[in-house]
Amino acid sequence: MTTYYESDSALAQYLWLHYGEGRGLVSPSSPFACALDFPVRCAHMLLGTSAAPAGADGRSPLRALDVGCAVGRSTFELARVCGEAIGIDYSASFIRAAETLRNGEAIDYSTPFEGELVTTYTARRPPGIDPARAHFEVGDAERLREDLGTFDYVLAANLICRLREPRRFLARLPALVKPGGRLLLTTPATWRHIYTPRENWIGGYQGASGPVHTLDGLKTLLGPNFELESREDLALLIPEHARKYELILTEATRWRRRA
Ligand SMILES: C[S@@+](CC[C@H](N)C(=O)[O-])C[C@H]1O[C@@H](n2cnc3c(N)ncnc32)[C@H](O)[C@@H]1O
Repeated sequence: MTTYYESDSALAQYLWLHYGEGRGLVSPSSPFACALDFPVRCAHMLLGTSAAPAGADGRSPLRALDVGCAVGRSTFELARVCGEAIGIDYSASFIRAAETLRNGEAIDYSTPFEGELVTTYTARRPPGIDPARAHFEVGDAERLREDLGTFDYVLAANLICRLREPRRFLARLPALVKPGGRLLLTTPATWRHIYTPRENWIGGYQGASGPVHTLDGLKTLLGPNFELESREDLALLIPEHARKYELILTEATRWRRRA
């Protein structure tokens, strides 16, 4: 784990990725529009067509977990359908921001425009979300607290290749996802030594009988407990400045926990 995710510049980049509205030069009619709203698209892919069932108290009994939630947009989107959505991230700065938004406060932030010029935005909790359904906490995906319980939906977006021991996180998933429940993993499969020692990569290397891709590793590790339901490439943009973005094409896989 590096300190990058605690920095002010990372906070601004992730607030833009999760909540940017009227995103400067990347308008809905721009060539990059399909890469906007990544955290919302992740929640939709995980939920599929699920409607929110009401419990006796009128609240959905469904539970969702968003591991590596950053500043929380997918957690909020899961809370539209689930009576309880928990977002966990290692970064205290990200969780503080998510909690500020949950409390109904706005966050002003700036991203570079050009040279010394910046564009200022305001992040707000998206409309139509009951803040009592969302809960944020600092935590480590490799050491999730034992009393989290079980979930109908678990999301880990672009997390596994940031972990030191991704197998440790993946091994916990069968206990977290209810039988019949769903799991969505997205990953750019970057695999960098500064995050994950080479011996812990689950793909992206030459094996004894040819290349081992991350999806191969996931099938091996998750296969006994999960069935692969669907696979998509989901794009996202991280802003560097108004005319320069990192375009990431993640591999998103949705899995169903075997009964
Ligand atoms: C590439 S970002 C993805 C954030 C978010 N899921 C998204 O798609 O926008 C990786 C996130 O994982 C978090 N993270 C890294 N290591 C972690 C760990 N061991 N436990 C929990 N979160 C971690 C980082 O703080 C960061 O928010």
